Amino acid sequence: MERTFAIIKPDAVTRGIAGEILKHIQTAGFQIAAIKSMRLTKAQAEGFYAVHRARPFFGELTEFMSSGKIIAMVLEADNAIARWRDTMGATDPAKAAKGTIRNSFGASIQNNCTHGSDAPETAAFEIGYFFAGYELI
Ligand code: RTP
Ligand code: MG
Repeated sequence: MERTFAIIKPDAVTRGIAGEILKHIQTAGFQIAAIKSMRLTKAQAEGFYAVHRARPFFGELTEFMSSGKIIAMVLEADNAIARWRDTMGATDPAKAAKGTIRNSFGASIQNNCTHGSDAPETAAFEIGYFFAGYELI
């Protein structure tokens, strides 16, 4: 079993489609090992996306990620990191494969409904950023 970190982003929570996305996650065979809802501050969003600090969209991205409630999760499955990326689809919903979460629900390259860790090191950082050890027992 591998663990990855996932977020249902503010666009999806605001539109009231978090439940549909959770159903998609469970149908795809992931166990939800931990889950919580919170609203990030701008500084907390900046810390989370620090790897993107130099990107032109960093300001807009961190405004968006702190614009409303998110749902943060730890997902478990065999090969969870790659599987969750496949389940979400490509960053741009228009380019994401049919049936993926981003293709089904995403509105734009920024408002693409979900986040997923891209490697074991980022999964470890991101899980630790949001969850304490006792929340993952
Ligand atoms: P994520 O980290 O959220 O799972 O998305 P990702 O790996 O597919 O894409 P990444 O390159 O890490 O970008 C992080 C998030 O930034 C927003 N974005 N905006 N305006 C733009 O050109 C642009 N490019 C990316 C998206 O919300 C993307 O998920
Ligand atoms: Mg990424």
